[in-house]
This record gives sequence, structure tokens and C-alpha cells, in this order.
Amino acid sequence: MSGQKIVLGISGGIAAYKTPELVRLLKKRGAEVQAVLTRSAKEFVTETTLQAVSGSPVRENLWDKEAEAAMGHIELARWADLVLIAPATAEIMSRLALGAAPDLLTTLCLATEAPIVVAPAMNHIMWADSGVQDNCRVLKQRDIRILGPAVGDQACGESGPGRMVEPEDIVAAIMGPKAVPDVSALAGKVVMITAGPTREAIDPVRYISNRSSGKMGYAIAAAARDAGAKVLLVSGPVNIVPPAAVETIFTESAKEMFAAVHDRLTEVDVFIGAAAVADYHSASVQTHKLKKSESDLSLDLSRTPDILASVAGQQDRPFTVGFAAETQNLREYALGKLKEKNLDMIVANLVGANQGFEKDRNSVEVFWQDGEKVFPDSDKKVLGRQLVKIIGEQYKSIQDAQTVQIQPAISGGD
Ligand code: PMT
Repeated sequence: MSGQKIVLGISGGIAAYKTPELVRLLKKRGAEVQAVLTRSAKEFVTETTLQAVSGSPVRENLWDKEAEAAMGHIELARWADLVLIAPATAEIMSRLALGAAPDLLTTLCLATEAPIVVAPAMNHIMWADSGVQDNCRVLKQRDIRILGPAVGDQACGESGPGRMVEPEDIVAAIMGPKAVPDVSALAGKVVMITAGPTREAIDPVRYISNRSSGKMGYAIAAAARDAGAKVLLVSGPVNIVPPAAVETIFTESAKEMFAAVHDRLTEVDVFIGAAAVADYHSASVQTHKLKKSESDLSLDLSRTPDILASVAGQQDRPFTVGFAAETQNLREYALGKLKEKNLDMIVANLVGANQGFEKDRNSVEVFWQDGEKVFPDSDKKVLGRQLVKIIGEQYKSIQDAQTVQIQPAISGGD
């Protein structure tokens, strides 16, 4: 992003309070940022703050006599390498779809040749409104890129799709693979990651599951995306927001996750199984809620399909990375799984009382055929990047070794 000139348009939604952080992250990546506020955005974030973090005067008024003496809106439109509107309200999206230009931001959008990216933010019912969805379609037809919205809790107290994508995810989505050259072995590759728990139904209201939050798998997905990979995230039911610009496929049971993985497997170069897949499911799912009685109840459990082993067992298989979640004998059990499941790598973590599952932090040991590495306790986002880096390195070394083996056969035929 070094030297990239970004006009950051801010419209009047509560998520505008996150824009000073967005400016900070863009500047950290080397971008020059010029903030342009709509009138209602000023209700949520101040010009003074944005001016301080961007280091440039903030523009707001199309009728600013001094700036417009030099045709300021045209100058800004020409200056921009990218126009990013975050948050983008339903109102600003509607103006863009109409081609209307009642203020500085929309005027410069009409006048610019730079790509435009919008990060919508609004109440989830507004987002679902057919007028808003029609506007979205129009914007996409005009090659305006729409980032998000993310799903989750909203300022109005409700929950659903409509949150502005987080500043760090916006930055990752617009910056492209060149920004992370040290992990570029995965750039352009398709990486599939499973994450979160599975739920195995007992009856229509009860299920067997585990404590996985999806944080580890989602962090790897975001890191793989930042490394330039196309990421397919196959997720169990979790309460966290998927990273932006990552194709997320939601599943519930192990059987569904198995089907979703195999549905897309032929596209995949690297598979990472971070999900905590249930090993057993109820042998017969009741169609009606089980009634309690005075006696104890026993459940018959059957084995679920092993997704990881089935991926590793494919003839033309992707580079396959598994996880091992253990409460003891970490090294021994992990090495056992590496061999038995015929994996290229395994990431082993201790789980149980207060570690591994649910927490924001984790520590792991990674094993492969002729090496191992310890990653001490750190935030799962940091760990995700470290894992993607080492997975990329091992993937590359196997690719290079295969190329060397093929080489003599080619020259021998001459
Ligand atoms: O989600 P978080 O709260 O952030 O927690 C992260 C985590 C602890 C869940 C994660 O780091 C982790 O260890 N994931 C793997 C959990 C697990 O199921 O481990 P396992 O040792 O039981 O399984 C070994 C491997 O086989 C795993 O890659 C698992 O995805 C895979 N497996 C297991 C059973 C099955 N039926 N199908 C599978 O693919």
C-alpha cells in the first residue's frame, strides 16, 4: 500500500466511530489518507480526530470556497487511487446507485476514475430491504466493490448482517497479496480451512457438541487470506464474525461438514482441519423431543466420518494439515495422528482446563515428517499468521521437491 492515495468517505452511521482506527491502520501500511465526511457523519466522529490521525485536513463541504477555488472535488477525484466509503449507509448507497451528487463525497465519486469500495453498515432489516438490495446490485454492476456487511450484534441491540466489516479486515481486503511477501507461497492458491465445533442432533432440540469457538480456525482463515490465498472456510456453528473476503460455508453436523468439504475439494491446494469435529453422533435421531421419565437414559452413539483422514486419503490430495487436541501426551499422540491419518503436517495443542478451546490465546507444537517447531503462547490472530507462514514454507518445499523429481523425466525424453 506504500504511497497509495486513498479517499476515505465516511457517511453517517454509528460505525463511523471506528474510522480513526481505520485511518491509523491504512497509514501504518504506508497509504496516504484524505478523509471526506458527509454532514451526518459529523454527528459520529469529529474532524479534529480524523485530521490528527490522517495528518491531512478533512474535507466535508462541497461549498468550501477556499478548496473549491481550485476545483477541490475534481482535484480529490483525480488524486485518489482508491475511494473507500466506510461506513456506507443505505442513504449513501442509494445516492451512488442513482448517480446523484448532492454533496462532496458523492460528487467526487462521480468524478473519479479510481475504483470505489463500499463497506455497508446498517440495521439488519434495512440491509434486507429490497430497495437496498436493488441498489447493491446496481453498484456491483458498475464494478463498485461491496465489502460485507459482517454478521453479528448491532448497535440497535439486534443481531444479524449489517455490521461494518472490522477496520483490519477492510485493510486486508483492499491491500492484496503483495503486502505480505514473506508468506507468498500460498498466494493465488486455494486454501480450505475447517473451523468451530459440530453439533450432532439427539432430537429436534438437543445436540452433542464441544467448546470450540472457531477463533483458531477463523484466525488461520484471515491469515491465509492476507497471504494472498483464496480461502474457503467451512465453519461449524459459532458466534464470531467470519473474516471479510473469505468464502464461508456454514455447516452443522460432522456429516454436513464432510459433504461441504468434499463438494469443493477438487479446487483445493491446501487443506487445514482446525474444526473440533465430533467423533460420535446419535445412532438414531429422534423426530420428537425425548420425554423424561423416572429411569436413566442411554444413547447409542455411532462414529462420524473422519473428514481429515478422508481428505488425506484422496488420490490427488491437497497438502493436508491436521490438528491434534490432547489433554496429555501431546507429542506422542500428535505424531501418532500424523502417521495414522497420513498427514503432511499436524498442529498439536493442549486442551482442557482453561486452554485451547474458547480462549483468545493458544500455544502449539507443529510436527511434519522431518521437522517440528514450538509456537509459545500468543494471541490466536498472531498464531494464525505464524501457522500460515510455516504451512506455506512446507507446502513450497514439497512442491519444489516434486518439481525436481519430474525434471529428469522431462529431459530424459529429449
Ligand atoms: O475453536 P477454538 O475455541 O479457537 O479452539 C481451537 C481448537 C482447540 C478447537 C483447535 O486448536 C483444535 O485443536 N482443533 C482440532 C480439534 C480436534 O477435534 O482434535 P482431534 O485431535 O480430536 O482431531 C484430530 C484431527 O482430526 C483434527 O484436525 C480434526 O479436525 C480432525 N477430525 C476429527 C474427527 C472427525 N470426525 N473428523 C475430522 O476431520
